[in-house]
Amino acid sequence: MTTSRLSGHLLAIWGGYGSPGRTTVAIALARAFGLLSGSTLLIDADTYGADIGHLLAISGGPTIANAAHRCKRRELGRSLPELATKFAPGTDVLPGIPHPGLWRDLESPQIEAVLALAASAYQWVVIDTSPCIEQAEGCVSRNAVACTVLRSADHILLICRADPAGVQSFARALEELTDDLMVEISRVFVAVNRVPARSATRRMVRIQREINNASGITPLAWLSEDPAVLSALWAGRTLHDHAPRARFVGQIHDLAGCLDHLHEREVSA
Ligand SMILES: Nc1ncnc2c1ncn2[C@@H]1O[C@H](COP(=O)(O)OP(=O)(O)OP(=O)(O)O)[C@@H](O)[C@H]1O
Ligand SMILES: [Mg+2]
Repeated sequence: MTTSRLSGHLLAIWGGYGSPGRTTVAIALARAFGLLSGSTLLIDADTYGADIGHLLAISGGPTIANAAHRCKRRELGRSLPELATKFAPGTDVLPGIPHPGLWRDLESPQIEAVLALAASAYQWVVIDTSPCIEQAEGCVSRNAVACTVLRSADHILLICRADPAGVQSFARALEELTDDLMVEISRVFVAVNRVPARSATRRMVRIQREINNASGITPLAWLSEDPAVLSALWAGRTLHDHAPRARFVGQIHDLAGCLDHLHEREVSA
């Protein structure tokens, strides 16, 4: 299926093992882009731990699988915004499939078609992507979804957890991305997450040095370890609704502004 691409921007949120904060960043960034551009779709393509539907209290609505199946049957056309669930100003969401077995039905061309439709209908498309991109036998179809997303995305925001194990995981993930999946490093941005609030300057200098040694990349954002993230989780609300003035929210808005600016510059170049 071919679909014309408009100027929508596909941003995959990715990272290595060890829960660096992909989902937390993806949800908050989608909210920020929604407020910034008024036209954002958040897609949960995590084939191992799809939890965006649960976190946003969206149950029973159409998922990425429904969109993919409709694409296959050529039923989706340009109606993706009608299928997606509206969850905040300027932001729609396509939750993932919490039952891993259901991913077996998904094929790369369908995922590609959904992403192309999304880019033709929304200004920003933020995709939460699972960590495993290994193509070993037995996990091929689940991992193929992540590979397709990472190959199709205009940019990948690689999340690095701000501790020594987090940087190790980041370095391994980046190596897989560039060596195995042959993704160009110029398409990769980095955000460091869970930066300790106080008295950790020396440690963060070390993290920055190790990120730079592994990738040559200067992180676009340093996102704080923020207790508001956990209290929002327990309150059953998004961070934007629960604590709109939280430090993490401000940093995410700065990051969204920066990504939007870089995108504008690229489009007009
Ligand atoms: N900046 C932050 N401040 C405080 N807590 C955070 C922050 N970022 C993430 N967390 C917490 O860390 C945990 C892991 O975050 P999250 O679920 O976003 O990671 P993930 O990379 O999507 O993990 P998974 O591999 O399970 O999909 C969650 O409990 C989340 O609330
Ligand atoms: Mg997650």
